[in-house]
Amino acid sequence: MSNSQWHDLGPADQFAAKPLQQVVIGRTRIALSFRDGTFAAISGACNHVGGPLGDGRLDGEYVVCPWHNWKYHRTTGAGEPGYEAETVPRYQVEVREGHLWIDLTPAGKRNRIPHEPHALARPVVREAGPLRVAGISTTAIDEANPRFSTSEALLAAALAHAKGRGAETRLIRLSSLFFRHCEGYYSKSAQACTWPCSITQMDPNDQMDQVYEAMVHWADVVMVATPIRWGAASSLYFKMAERLNCVQNQTTIRDRVLIRNKVAAFIVTGGQDNVQGTVGQMLTFFGELGFVFPQFPFIAHSRGWSAEDMENNVRVVRDSAELREGAEQLIDRSLEVAKHLLASAPPNTVARGGRKAHPVNGGQPA
Ligand code: FES
Repeated sequence: MSNSQWHDLGPADQFAAKPLQQVVIGRTRIALSFRDGTFAAISGACNHVGGPLGDGRLDGEYVVCPWHNWKYHRTTGAGEPGYEAETVPRYQVEVREGHLWIDLTPAGKRNRIPHEPHALARPVVREAGPLRVAGISTTAIDEANPRFSTSEALLAAALAHAKGRGAETRLIRLSSLFFRHCEGYYSKSAQACTWPCSITQMDPNDQMDQVYEAMVHWADVVMVATPIRWGAASSLYFKMAERLNCVQNQTTIRDRVLIRNKVAAFIVTGGQDNVQGTVGQMLTFFGELGFVFPQFPFIAHSRGWSAEDMENNVRVVRDSAELREGAEQLIDRSLEVAKHLLASAPPNTVARGGRKAHPVNGGQPA
């Protein structure tokens, strides 16, 4: 007995107008293609994380997923050369008397090749050991010809002080890392923005993994230092922040909080003003990531809007015992909070309502 479930899609002409389209019949998603006068249909759900294949594009005979570019042959459903075992179901299609028909019983199977998970995907477990501080310097510097950075100098003072108190420290200088800007996977779909970051999983040369490793897995305290540029944190700070969307997005779409019981603090120095606006953004963003803050969570220095004599900023900060002391006291406060958080071991779940009122897939069938 045949298991066929032939379904009339409608006038074939209407489907021939587009090389590729996503067609939804009940709860079945189909990537329907038309090329060289021939229709073909495969599943409209990608094996990776379910991208809508029919919303992608055709590359020759291959359907390219719009989310992270995996490819499947439009007639066989097989992955691109080298990945032929990675298959999505294919479906039979026929034109009968001007109408396009599809058999909704798949003619091929879905097969997912097991992929080794990325090292960052491991469970977040606080390993035993002394308190750990990651300093992240976001100032933009020519690595080959370095200059004195006021924000980085104060960060270095804080890290040295933390080390003196028995903490392990790690300095990450964004200017010495190669990392790609966020390419907006979240803007395609919340589900397309993955943890670990889609770019990190695809590009072994991208070094943002060092920041993820320190922030999510290693550190108890993260201290971020930035200059003020046009009233805001540095361009490298924002480049990093956008790549951290994937951490915050896990909370939004999966109630999966990757940052727990960790402390963030900030050092902000500027030739000109807007300390409050700069720190305000950082507090908001790191709060949304899941960090907590010590009392008085930042130190800052700015000589104001009219202070264009930048060399004097360098001199003032370099010579300031008060600012160094402020950096040391900031790390002291941060370590105290981190110590209490670790000792009291707060529960591993926190209620955080508010975002899930809107279905993240827009109500589309799975
Ligand atoms: S490549 Fe298709 S969902 Fe990632």
